[in-house]
Amino acid sequence: MKKIRKAVFPVAGLGTRFLPATKALPKEMLTVVDKPVIQYVVNEAREAGIEHLIFVTGRNKSAIEDHFDVQVELYETLSRRGRTEILERLEAMQPEPGQVSYTRQQVPLGLGHAVWCARELVGDEPFALLLPDMIMQSETGCMKQMVELYEQTGGNILAVEECDPTETHKYGIVGRGKDAYTGFEITAMVEKPEPEDAPSNFYINGRYILQPEIFALLENQETGAGGEIQITDAMLRLHATQPFYAHIFTGNTFDCGSPEGFIKANLALALDSPQLKPHVLRFMRSFLNQE
Ligand code: G1P
Repeated sequence: MKKIRKAVFPVAGLGTRFLPATKALPKEMLTVVDKPVIQYVVNEAREAGIEHLIFVTGRNKSAIEDHFDVQVELYETLSRRGRTEILERLEAMQPEPGQVSYTRQQVPLGLGHAVWCARELVGDEPFALLLPDMIMQSETGCMKQMVELYEQTGGNILAVEECDPTETHKYGIVGRGKDAYTGFEITAMVEKPEPEDAPSNFYINGRYILQPEIFALLENQETGAGGEIQITDAMLRLHATQPFYAHIFTGNTFDCGSPEGFIKANLALALDSPQLKPHVLRFMRSFLNQE
């Protein structure tokens, strides 16, 4: 079985749900506590053993490339000032030379199209796909859990969670088959169905392990929900010839592409920090007492 070495991050999205904050700044660069959102997602991939990061970017996204580049002057200044702790943290986050690739999705034609843009960089091997809006909080990262499962199952794996049954139109929804491993066998996949058409209330939370045959199925550029080329539709076609397993993720998921999810992520991750927790709690208590 081929190891999962590469991860694709589709970061070309316009971030319209977060205007005006995202007018000049990529949504992936918004700060959650002390790091940009994308850094959390990259950390999750690297924890899972990913060796090569593939970003599918777009215009106005160069801040992401700068973030993952070496900042020679900054590093030298920090070193001169003896700021070794922060310097070490920056260096630990730094991908090795040659470990990152960038390609552009020239026109925003949908998530499936963005993934297809990475086909040459991924090549003929299974890969991880991580949607950069979603920050996952759990003891063992969601993608690491999935890679461990993949080592037993092979095939394709989607992380899923339950949503409110009235909200299926916001997500890709899977059909639940026989229980298997840490979840179940997937029987169907539908992008953004109305509740009456949804095969279950298990939604795809933005973490995938996919086989490279997905690229050929994205090739014909068929459009689906919202007039976009959907990865969910291509996965449904791949399902005709390959197994798909759902991994039920049990940690916290924050959709940082929306103000609500972003604020929750900041609160939850600040409360996860031993340094910040007492300050945040004290502030919240006194603030709530004023209400
Ligand atoms: C995308 C996927 C959808 C998935 C969702 C998770 O939708 O197409 O299947 O459930 O991400 O956030 P989007 O949020 O880009 O509309």
